[in-house]
Amino acid sequence: MKNTLLTLAAFTGLFTLAAQGDTKIDFAKQIQPIFEQNCVKCHGPEKQKGGLRLDNKADALKGGKDAVAIVPNDLDKSDLYRRIILPAGSDDVMPNKGDLLTKQQTDLIRDWIKQGAEWPEGATAKTPVAEKAASEEPPKLPDFKPSAAELKAVAKLETMGVSIRPIAMNVNWHEANFRGLGTNSADAALGQLKDVVSLMDLNLSGAKFGDNALNNLKGLTNLTHLHLEHTSVKDAGLVNLKDMVNLAYLNLFDTAITDTGLENLKGLANLQNLHVWQTKVTEAGVTNLQAALPKCNIVRGWDLNAPVVASKDDATEKTMPAKKKKKKQ
Ligand code: HEC
Repeated sequence: MKNTLLTLAAFTGLFTLAAQGDTKIDFAKQIQPIFEQNCVKCHGPEKQKGGLRLDNKADALKGGKDAVAIVPNDLDKSDLYRRIILPAGSDDVMPNKGDLLTKQQTDLIRDWIKQGAEWPEGATAKTPVAEKAASEEPPKLPDFKPSAAELKAVAKLETMGVSIRPIAMNVNWHEANFRGLGTNSADAALGQLKDVVSLMDLNLSGAKFGDNALNNLKGLTNLTHLHLEHTSVKDAGLVNLKDMVNLAYLNLFDTAITDTGLENLKGLANLQNLHVWQTKVTEAGVTNLQAALPKCNIVRGWDLNAPVVASKDDATEKTMPAKKKKKKQ
């Protein structure tokens, strides 16, 4: 009897694993957000680089100038997949600017193409609002006179390997990217940042820092874009964002943030895009924040813990609970 139970347990274990490997990719939940965040600003309604659009089914399947981007069920013929897995710096790599897709994202696209690249009719990938604004002409900025401390800090940051530069010609407003630090501690560089009040765009994606290092960001209230994805940022770190009333874009993807951390964002009235996928944020936390920031686009993406969606229609039903109820007589 005991043996039978054990065998049964082992068998069900195996069975679940196999079932997970075959999990059907849900375009709207898993692929569309990747295209929206990484591709559509250059391959969408505004721009069609390489003659390719990835915002709607018909154009996406048609492909671009040089090749068919997506060939359902045929990974080898899908130029899109070839390009997204190229190493950084390759001629053809996509996106050709900014961060490459993560392994998890390219795997999702791989499985999606292998499974037939199903794209539900009418599903359109939109350009994120903040990205759209950023790709347009920058608005006329007020003059900014950097303090001596700021000039010193900018020079110092450059020597540390942080890429820091004016956001446009002839302005003193800055953007900074910590990628050059790699896996080295970013604590010292973050310490310098507190004097750089001209900072509007800060990319800390993947940076390694200690729990208190983000205290240095407290006074940077001119920030409009902040990337904290793939970092060890904790709920307590988000307290430092409370006064960043100009923040339009915040990325917390792949962090340990919970609903408690989100409480600190409730006053950020200009927040337009917030990415919280692969965090410990719950549906309730998102609903709660959404009530405080009705105009914010909170991207929860695909959640590993979410139940596997069986039917394509589930997504629509979820957003229209009222209708569903009515149907039930
Ligand atoms: C910053 C702009 C930019 C972004 C973002 C971008 N691309 Fe591109 N893409 C280009 C340019 C420019 C070309 C044309 C030059 C070339 O073929 O390399 C191109 C070409 C392509 C082509 C080949 C089209 C053809 O047949 O000629 C594919 C496929 C492609 N991109 C896929 C993607 C995917 C997938 C993403 C998102 C993960 C993406 N791109 C993000 C600028 C961009």
